[in-house]
Amino acid sequence: MLSNRLTMLMGVIALFAPAAHASDKSATPRQHAFEQNRRLGHGVNVLGYDPIWQNRDQARFQDRYFRLIKNAGFGHVRINLYPFRDGRLSPNNDIAATWFDTLDWAISNARGAGLMVILDLHEYETMAEDPTANRVRLLAAWRQIAQHCQKLPDDVLFELLNEPNGKLTPELWNALSRETLRIVRASNPRRTVIVGPGSWNSIDALSKLDLPEEDELLIATVHYYNPFAFTHQGAAWTIMKNTSGVTWEGTAEQRRAVRTDFERADAWAKQHRRPMFLGEFGALENGDLPSRARWAACVAKQAEDLGWSWAWWQFEGNFALYDSKRDAWVAPLLRALAPKTPTVPAMPHR
Ligand code: BGC
Repeated sequence: MLSNRLTMLMGVIALFAPAAHASDKSATPRQHAFEQNRRLGHGVNVLGYDPIWQNRDQARFQDRYFRLIKNAGFGHVRINLYPFRDGRLSPNNDIAATWFDTLDWAISNARGAGLMVILDLHEYETMAEDPTANRVRLLAAWRQIAQHCQKLPDDVLFELLNEPNGKLTPELWNALSRETLRIVRASNPRRTVIVGPGSWNSIDALSKLDLPEEDELLIATVHYYNPFAFTHQGAAWTIMKNTSGVTWEGTAEQRRAVRTDFERADAWAKQHRRPMFLGEFGALENGDLPSRARWAACVAKQAEDLGWSWAWWQFEGNFALYDSKRDAWVAPLLRALAPKTPTVPAMPHR
């Protein structure tokens, strides 16, 4: 009788117990990667093009923005890192201590605000130009960043490289990402690591991405800027530089195009049993705001429907979700994204 009651009581407790948490030791590494992706929820890209990396006094990004981002409902920030550009590398590729000071400031303020953190190595242009010459720098950067961060809890994730492209072909990237992962794993065996396909993290290149099967603590990532003629109209660095006036009306056909693309990516994710992170999507200011808001809502919703996490490109600068000059959110975009993130503990215990 007593044991019956006990069993019932245990059942009730189990019913109300929180879902398997990241620190749940019984979760397999693969379950942990899925749980980490769920906890990431919805985020925003930050700090990639901020003068803060050259001079802290010239920072556009302010400490209080981390809380602002959290209070708007986001769960994480993807910090775009340029250690080659900003790290004042020594001849041995040692990154300057001042760069790590800025990194530590960003990580501790983000975590202090209750945000998870993705450290995204964003040296994709340099790597695309000459992957062979820059291989040593990439490995050296990751060796140092990984060692520097090895004691941080699991609310900090690493992303090996943003948008491999150009001479860094999907085939070369398969080899280099494995090599980079080995370096990271030497100091961070239990870190959740994000890896995306070649050709600018495009969905089309997923079929060529070959992740090490034995590493279960991985999240796959893709970026989405389609239709490119809409998201990149007038973008000086692209073939769209002389275009303007392209709208996105959200017709059934336009929505179906997004769904078809995402379903293709999701089929890959299911086949390979990997969680999926949409690490960048955004539309440049040259497009009209109502179109951009419609597109943002459609893309975010379709990612959410498939259980993906996502991060908007980007917080401020161009493609901006926050207008730092007016000190205000670009309200129609924020409303469109409605970043209702699943509740995560403000400061995970460890
Ligand atoms: C790049 C940005 C670019 C954006 C959209 C990002 O990965 O870092 O420079 O504006 O993609 O093209």
